[in-house]
Amino acid sequence: MTKRGKFITFEGCDGCGKSTQLKMLSDYLTQNGIAHIFTREPGGGKISEAIRDILLSGKNMEMTDECEALLYAASRVQHLSDRVEPALQEGKLVICDRYVDSSLAYQAYARGLGYEFISQINSFALKNYLPDVTIFIDLTPEAAFARKKGADQNDRLELAGMEFHKRVYAGYDALAKAEPNRIARIDGNKTPQEIFNDVITLLKERDCL
Ligand code: TYD
Repeated sequence: MTKRGKFITFEGCDGCGKSTQLKMLSDYLTQNGIAHIFTREPGGGKISEAIRDILLSGKNMEMTDECEALLYAASRVQHLSDRVEPALQEGKLVICDRYVDSSLAYQAYARGLGYEFISQINSFALKNYLPDVTIFIDLTPEAAFARKKGADQNDRLELAGMEFHKRVYAGYDALAKAEPNRIARIDGNKTPQEIFNDVITLLKERDCL
């Protein structure tokens, strides 16, 4: 029987440098011949990408917070079936850009829907798939926004403002404190190469590489 692959998620505030790290990790895994898939939330499959378009469209500013939370969960459960589960069963390493901790940081903490409600709807959506390791790129929104240039003007979430993103950061900080065994905090203030070295060291320590 094939050994189940490891499930790794990347989390952090908008503009924390996740995309750069994911690209570097992708190159590393390819060069080292490690079987893997990269995917993302919301999205990652046909239906979940369609849900992503609804969620992130600047035309949907009147969406209620509850609708938003349920759509993220709906996208998650579809994406798990379409992409994550099959790859894990084939023994591949699954790297996912955002997962349930994004819903906890953004919807529970920042939108104020509360940990209980978001945990509840996600306990259904997760199908018992919790990441083996979650990498939280720890960079405050102030530092992230200073770095990020040319943000997409039509992104509904980018328009939410600094106060919102500060609450997102506080949410991640609380989650990382509550679950230190799963959520590894990596200092996002370092150079991309230093951060990447930290990521690789951590993944080796956690038996993922
Ligand atoms: P994206 O453009 O992929 O941003 P990033 O590159 O920062 O990951 O947009 C994803 C946005 O969706 C991001 O602002 C976080 C938000 N989000 C939630 O609010 N809840 C969730 O459960 C997920 C998965 C994402």
